[in-house]
Amino acid sequence: MSARLRGKKIIVTAAGQGIGKATAIAFYNEGAQVIATDINPKTLTELNSEYPNIKVQKLDSTSKNAISEFIKEIDKVDVLFNAVGFVHHGTILDCEEKDWNFSFDVNVKSMYLMCKAIIPLMIKQNGGSIINVSSIASSLKGLPNRFVYGATKAATIGLTKSIAADFVKKNIRCNTIAPGTVFSPSWQERVNNSPDPVQAKKDFIARQPMGRIGTAEEIAAMAIYLAGDESTFTTGNTFSVDGGMTI
Ligand SMILES: NC(=O)c1ccc[n+]([C@@H]2O[C@H](COP(=O)([O-])OP(=O)(O)OC[C@H]3O[C@@H](n4cnc5c(N)ncnc54)[C@H](O)[C@@H]3O)[C@@H](O)[C@H]2O)c1
Repeated sequence: MSARLRGKKIIVTAAGQGIGKATAIAFYNEGAQVIATDINPKTLTELNSEYPNIKVQKLDSTSKNAISEFIKEIDKVDVLFNAVGFVHHGTILDCEEKDWNFSFDVNVKSMYLMCKAIIPLMIKQNGGSIINVSSIASSLKGLPNRFVYGATKAATIGLTKSIAADFVKKNIRCNTIAPGTVFSPSWQERVNNSPDPVQAKKDFIARQPMGRIGTAEEIAAMAIYLAGDESTFTTGNTFSVDGGMTI
């Protein structure tokens, strides 16, 4: 265990599995005090049994009321890591209005609400770092069958840049990580639920010139950098971690 984040209090959303979970653990291993949140209490209980010193709290990041209740108990936040996201599969022709609304609620509104609740605390304590998880499927790259997902993840990049611009003088930094394809439970589900899982896995791997998909820990490594004091001159930027997908 090293201590690049010692003394920092960090809130992680979608920490029950995948990138959020790996990042919560990585932050904890770097000495941070971590509050891991997710809508799914079962995965949080598992995380807490593996890491009893990571505090877990059920939180629906799309609920303004739930966030208001949650924030009442919080006195200080140095870092907010927003990882909530959902992948809708299909083109615009497969995306009904309810799919559009759901994707924007989960992928964008969650980040808007969490940032809006936590920025006042960061202003009071004279600084902080916000890290929002976007995707290569965004304004960075158009990918087939990622219509509304790509739109939401482009919005994440815009939201990040706007926050960075508005609060740069308050010592609040806001950056985005854009992962390529990364192993996670929902990725595994996308493979399993496809008509030909063997081919689907090959196709996912082929998108990365490195010839493999990434690990959640490889995303967490970038998050440690952006959360810590090594990145204090860095704001409003998007950091691709993608196995060469955007070379
Ligand atoms: N896995 C990938 O290939 C990949 C690639 C690029 C970007 N991303 C992004 O990374 C993030 C994490 O994805 P993943 O694949 O690692 O994890 P995942 O999709 O397997 O898990 C998502 C987590 O979000 C939680 N969640 C869903 N709705 C929520 C809500 N309203 N409030 C709180 N929690 C909620 C779920 O319970 C779950 O624990 C997402 O934003 C995703 O879009 C993932």
